[in-house]
Amino acid sequence: MCGIVATIGSREVVPLLLKSLQRLEYRGYDSAGLATVMPGQLHCRKAEGKLVHLREKLEKSPVAGCCGIGHTRWATHGKPDVRNAHPQLDEADQVAVVQNGIIENHRLLRQGLEQQGVRFRSDTDTEVIPHLVAQALADLRGTAPPTDLLRQAVARAVEQLEGAYALAVVWQGQPGELVAVRYNAPLLIGLGEGQFFCASDTPALAGFASTIVSLEDGEMARLTPLGVELFDGSGQRIQRTPQPLRGDDYTANKRHFRHFMLKEIHEQADVAAAWVERCLAAPADESLATVLRNVQRVQLLACGTSRHAALVGAHLLEQLAGVPSSVHYASEFRYAPPPLMPQTLTIGVTQSGETADTLAALTIEMERRHALEPNVPPLMLGITNRADSSLGRLVPHVLDLKAGVEVGVAATKTFLGQMLAFYGIALLLASQRHGASAQVKACRQALEQLPEQLSRTLHAMDQCCAELAHGFAETRDVIYLGRGINYPIALEGALKLKEISYIHAEGYPAGEMKHGPIALLDQHVPVVSIATPGPVFEKVLSNAQEAKARDARLIGIGPVCGDTEIFDVLLPIPPVHELVSPLLTIVPMQLLAYHVAAHRGLDVDQPRNLAKSVTVE
Ligand code: G6P
Repeated sequence: MCGIVATIGSREVVPLLLKSLQRLEYRGYDSAGLATVMPGQLHCRKAEGKLVHLREKLEKSPVAGCCGIGHTRWATHGKPDVRNAHPQLDEADQVAVVQNGIIENHRLLRQGLEQQGVRFRSDTDTEVIPHLVAQALADLRGTAPPTDLLRQAVARAVEQLEGAYALAVVWQGQPGELVAVRYNAPLLIGLGEGQFFCASDTPALAGFASTIVSLEDGEMARLTPLGVELFDGSGQRIQRTPQPLRGDDYTANKRHFRHFMLKEIHEQADVAAAWVERCLAAPADESLATVLRNVQRVQLLACGTSRHAALVGAHLLEQLAGVPSSVHYASEFRYAPPPLMPQTLTIGVTQSGETADTLAALTIEMERRHALEPNVPPLMLGITNRADSSLGRLVPHVLDLKAGVEVGVAATKTFLGQMLAFYGIALLLASQRHGASAQVKACRQALEQLPEQLSRTLHAMDQCCAELAHGFAETRDVIYLGRGINYPIALEGALKLKEISYIHAEGYPAGEMKHGPIALLDQHVPVVSIATPGPVFEKVLSNAQEAKARDARLIGIGPVCGDTEIFDVLLPIPPVHELVSPLLTIVPMQLLAYHVAAHRGLDVDQPRNLAKSVTVE
């Protein structure tokens, strides 16, 4: 997936496009490019790698223009090189296209175009689009009014596309307009003062546009220096009231931290403090209480780190509230959803609110519920850090994490925020069902202590993990073990390490280690084991002993006590109620991964091959 932006108006667009692309880099940073149009001229600049390389190219070889499109790429079709960077052009270099999504029938379209003699210059799926638009322009010339020619040509081209896409097109024959279309990929229109935009996401528009209009699937927009016209899939003009653009601060800086990720890890104490004030100290959220009232089971749909938060959530929902819960990879659910049971609450968990698989799984769920009970609002909830995202528009209820902008691609404070959202839901469900039970009271009390405990743990652990990271210089594999509610934290610890340090790591339920992974162990494979007092404490310690007997170096995460002396290194957390412990055991996991990657000199905030928002399947 990629980030796209386009703008037209009274100003030179290159500085605007670059600023917006910088804010979209979280969607991919394999290459970047832009194109501007002026009467009779189309200028395009592209560079491999991050935006900084495009900036350098533009400094040496500037382009001008008041209408332009830009792109930052996460490679799907074709290597991340200049040839495959966007914008992609037609053969005559007159039509330029930026696209986010996947054109699934691109091979067939390409074959057809090649048979007609069209020469392709890239391996991208996108390149079919400028060729199709160029052909449609040639066909329509003389029949369509000149002011509507580009829109009609783009409409004719997208009729032939299958897949998911958001795209923007400029044509040097009509330098006073640009056309944008969306189908199953996010695209927003931004309205500023004499300047009009379309972009994949709101950060690209912040400071430039005061209001936004979101395009629905199949809709198209024509942007000119005078304003924006919207069209439905059949080409009819439509009206939509613009919404104010939320004033989120997208100008996040690293403060004194070396990386955004480290800063965001440290911000978790503030996220917890704000949550305690908002959700624990305040009266229960009435609309959430209404949603939960008759729920009999919960199914959770998510990907990546969000899925790990969902696993913690399912444990809480079952053990604290007694509600059967299941967690599904959204990418699996969308092709094999389990039979729908009555009174099932479906929760989509996604920090970005834009993950294509999660949105698709939720859409399927919504459709089958609607088919069964057309007049009943679907029992569905979203948990996200971006209430203004596609998720926010899809589901009837959203829990906003309010964790603030997270720049690091590897999620940290949003993961904590997601877990906290589940504590809120589970506590509310538990109180609705069983009143203020002893367990609920103990859990609430433990959560009240959390901000202070987090803050202490963060400070104590930073140095410990930095020192420990030195020992990982030659490490190639790491095993993470946890049980019960800390099993998802073992998964998350392993994922964090993989994502940013490129070390192979596996998370396992500690009791499963003897059924396979134990074969991997020797003195070169460290084992990170979470051991917090509770029903499985002794079991985890026994599993750790089994690893130690195979010469593995044991790193423990748990409170300082006689039992945890078996670890070669202990990353201590305060003594804490077991059900609340993931909110603390996650801290050493994140800091260890961070310091190992930083020590290796890697790009912690933008690790290779990843993106923060995955808008393709
Ligand atoms: C990408 C990110 C992960 C994230 C996952 C799900 O793979 O790199 O950090 O956990 O997407 O993202 P979501 O926005 O749905 O939480």
